[in-house]
This record gives sequence, C-alpha cells and structure tokens, in this order.
Amino acid sequence: MALRKILSDKNPALHKVCKPVESFDSKLWRLLDDMRETLLDSGGVGLAAPQVGILRRVVLVDTGEEILELVNPTLLETDGEQEGPEGCLSVQGKYGLVKRPYYAKVRAQDRTGNWFEAEGEELTARCFCHELDHLDGILYTQVMERLLTDEELDAWAE
Ligand code: NI
Repeated sequence: MALRKILSDKNPALHKVCKPVESFDSKLWRLLDDMRETLLDSGGVGLAAPQVGILRRVVLVDTGEEILELVNPTLLETDGEQEGPEGCLSVQGKYGLVKRPYYAKVRAQDRTGNWFEAEGEELTARCFCHELDHLDGILYTQVMERLLTDEELDAWAE
C-alpha cells in the first residue's frame, strides 16, 4: 500500500465527471488499498478517487465501524434533512454550512464486482452524499449555503 497525494480543489481532476469502473482487477484493488491508507492518514471520514487524480467512480466512507469501499455507487433513497458544518480534504482549512439528507441509502459494487446496499444516518449520510458528489465533479463549496467563520465552528464543536 502507498499513500497517494490528495489534490486541492484548484486541480481540474476535482471538477470532472468520473467514469464507471469496468475492471475489478488488481489495479482497482491497489487503488482501494492506497485510498484506505491515504484516508486513515488524513484523519478524514471519506475519500473519492478523483481526489487522488483517478477519474473513476470509487469512494471510501468511514462509518466509524468500518471503511466502506463503494465502487460505481448510486444514491437509492434519502430521508429527512440535516444542516451542519462540512469540510473536504481537498479544501483545506475551510468549512461550510451544508444541508444534506438525514438518512441515505446507497447501492454499490464491492472490489470483486458484487452489488450491495449500505445505509447511514447523520455523518455517514452526509459523507455518502459528499463523496458521491465528488464523482460528478461537485464540491461542497458549490452546494453550501455559505462558509462558516471560526467562531461558528467553535460553537458547532461544543
Ligand atoms: Ni471531499
């Protein structure tokens, strides 16, 4: 496994629509392994392939219990609403106020191509939506209400 460099939002790769994964081969597995190591090293809760310069529909989401590998994920169902601070490993030092569904269910393939479903609430639902947006070249800064000030972030953290 190897750490991959996380690109900033100034990089064109972050603004492209990613292509589906078609080959569930050792190249994909290496990407997933490297993304896992990079995510763990970053302290973030999610990572999308375009953030490491790979324009394929692959994301990792840390649910707190496990790191889910989602290949070719789609949003199946959402419910409710939450509003809160959101950051991105590609947008360093900033947080925005973003509305997301409270609950989200996704369908995706695992590293061998088998389809499965995963669901989550609160941070996990937020993360599903944020990471899936990355695959369409969308950053939270394009869907947020506004950036948060340091004072507001401190208040959210309490
Ligand atoms: Ni992000």
